[in-house]
Amino acid sequence: MFQPSSPIGVIDSGVGGFSVARQVRRLLPHEDLLYMGDGGNPMYGGRTEEEILTMTRHMLRFMQEREIKVLLVACNTISCLIPRFQEELPCPVFSVVQAGGRAAAALPEVKKLAVLSTVFTARSGAYPELIGRLAPEKQVISRPCPDLAALVELVVNDPGMRPLIEADLRDDLDDLVNEERVDCCLLGCTHYPLVSDIILDLYPGLFLLDPAVQMAQTLKEYLDRTGMSSPAPGPGRTDVFTTGSVTEYAQKAARVGLEPLTSVQYYPPLRIGL
Ligand code: DGL
Repeated sequence: MFQPSSPIGVIDSGVGGFSVARQVRRLLPHEDLLYMGDGGNPMYGGRTEEEILTMTRHMLRFMQEREIKVLLVACNTISCLIPRFQEELPCPVFSVVQAGGRAAAALPEVKKLAVLSTVFTARSGAYPELIGRLAPEKQVISRPCPDLAALVELVVNDPGMRPLIEADLRDDLDDLVNEERVDCCLLGCTHYPLVSDIILDLYPGLFLLDPAVQMAQTLKEYLDRTGMSSPAPGPGRTDVFTTGSVTEYAQKAARVGLEPLTSVQYYPPLRIGL
């Protein structure tokens, strides 16, 4: 059974969840983080619900065996499916979509926002539904970006790929910024905050909303309220597991400011023949 000293689990299809882990690390330095990125099965955003659930359950088994005290679903695509697996876990499950939706709804100055996301998240309608419920006066434009998360993985690995991602970002964002004139772009895929510097170079002054900030805050409030904060006096561990390349994950974590890592280890992927 989990206890206050148990680790916090963080899952994503890849390195996108690093954007959540680094916020949690900043706000909760004493907590142990256990990260799993399914780098051996890229990418989730264009897959079917059943495929995503099958691959997610592989990561959930890993987390359960290590008795995490909280699961952070640091993937918007997987977060859309939380109702389908939440009851299979003994610990609380936090959704990055809930965090992003709540953060957007709480911004009175934002009247018109675009939600950038994977195709799966856009199709699910999760963000417009949630924001529509919490702040019905806001106009929400849902923008699927089919290639962006994969390009983020590439450019974080090799900054020389930057021109590729710039071209893709212009395709996805030009009309939102110049014609729709949105007040804010909600980064509805955890990969996107890893390139917010590139987005801001292209669109200086654009208001980017990273749900990870709200997610870390909600987690802290929960841990404080329930007495589940880590009692450890020193800095917590950050153990990263991947079903992909250990070397790449170590490099990418350092590049996006998730450091120091305690360890980076390989975990065998689920081969589902996709
Ligand atoms: N990082 C994931 C998200 O937030 C998705 C990336 C993928 O397509 O696998 O939706």
